[in-house]
Amino acid sequence: MAQVRVDLGERSYSIHIGSGLLAEVGPLLRETAPQAARALLIADSHTGPLYGEQVLASLRSAGTEAFLATVPAGEQSKSLRTAESLYERCLDAALERSSVIVALGGGVIGDLAGFVAATYLRGLPFVQVPTSLLAQVDSAVGGKVAVDLARGKNLVGAFHQPRLVVADVAALRSLPAREVAAGLAEVVKHAVIRDGAFLTFLEENAGPIASLEPALLEQLVARNCAIKAAVVGADETETRLRAILNFGHTAGHAIEALRWESLRHGECVAIGMVVASQLAAAAGVLQDPELPGRVRRLLERLGLPTQLPVTPAELLPVLYRDKKVEGGKLRWVLPVRPGEVVVRPVGDDLVLQTLRSLV
Ligand SMILES: NC(=O)c1ccc[n+]([C@@H]2O[C@H](COP(=O)([O-])OP(=O)(O)OC[C@H]3O[C@@H](n4cnc5c(N)ncnc54)[C@H](O)[C@@H]3O)[C@@H](O)[C@H]2O)c1
Ligand SMILES: [Zn+2]
Repeated sequence: MAQVRVDLGERSYSIHIGSGLLAEVGPLLRETAPQAARALLIADSHTGPLYGEQVLASLRSAGTEAFLATVPAGEQSKSLRTAESLYERCLDAALERSSVIVALGGGVIGDLAGFVAATYLRGLPFVQVPTSLLAQVDSAVGGKVAVDLARGKNLVGAFHQPRLVVADVAALRSLPAREVAAGLAEVVKHAVIRDGAFLTFLEENAGPIASLEPALLEQLVARNCAIKAAVVGADETETRLRAILNFGHTAGHAIEALRWESLRHGECVAIGMVVASQLAAAAGVLQDPELPGRVRRLLERLGLPTQLPVTPAELLPVLYRDKKVEGGKLRWVLPVRPGEVVVRPVGDDLVLQTLRSLV
């Protein structure tokens, strides 16, 4: 088992990573929050039936009175309406200020349950039990919680750090292959922005990683959590350093806005990383000319798309919509060499030229 500490002063917490940890959620919670006598476990219609009973049993055997609330799987559950139904479940379960909300699922459940935890009774302690790869390497770490509005994702939310994160890599076995690949896009992102040696590790182990070789997974998730924890620890509320986590997300979010019905977030980020790497070369920022090719080949081996699914003309207006534009220039996270990126404004002429070179 591996452990990663997220250093945030009095809000510091530990991420436990290993195989078979779902059975340990109860004891780990007892250790972290001994006063937590009651807990509401929130899962979705996939993770609830698969793992709900096991986690409930673990909580109960450790002396926590635990209840399970299950919401439909999918992004549409990340809503104020679902949050309201969960507040009712908090009331039914007679939760108090010291009670705990436990999220059992992917990023949707983590964000939704975290939002409920941040707001119910002005804030309850919160535990993340991420079960998708994306959640284990990305969304469960960092404390951002939110629900969507009809007009946009993550528009209502808070920073609410978990007290504890328990990532059971064995739970990834039931995750559909496409979801695994989507999570791997964020893994590649972490390697490119902070850790050149980890990028080489991914290239050397792409096959076994894509097929979820258990020995590699624990190492992979731990390394990712350490990278995200270091970035978040240095910049909790996203002012400077945390912006580097947006590598691949500038173009990625725009592609997602246009193709959300057919592409997963991670798939859009994969294409976005190809765009940003190419743009780094065009902008004269890139010091290692091998990098764009390496990123593209690795993404392809991991089962991710790398071709622009939209025309530059379609993409450009969406790219500039709702974004912080500095002197008419959009800010991009651009790779310099493996493990190092810079955040730079780039003119739209160069962006258009790069997008055209990619079609
Ligand atoms: N808070 C953050 O910092 C942050 C960061 C990135 C993404 N997000 C959010 O995360 C969400 C996406 O997360 P996601 O990709 O995990 O989506 P998700 O939660 O919808 O999970 C993807 C699918 O996999 C299923 N699933 C999860 N674990 C499973 C398992 N072990 N076995 C079988 N099926 C399983 C889910 O039921 C769902 O159908 C988005 O809402 C996004 O905004 C948040
Ligand atoms: Zn992302």
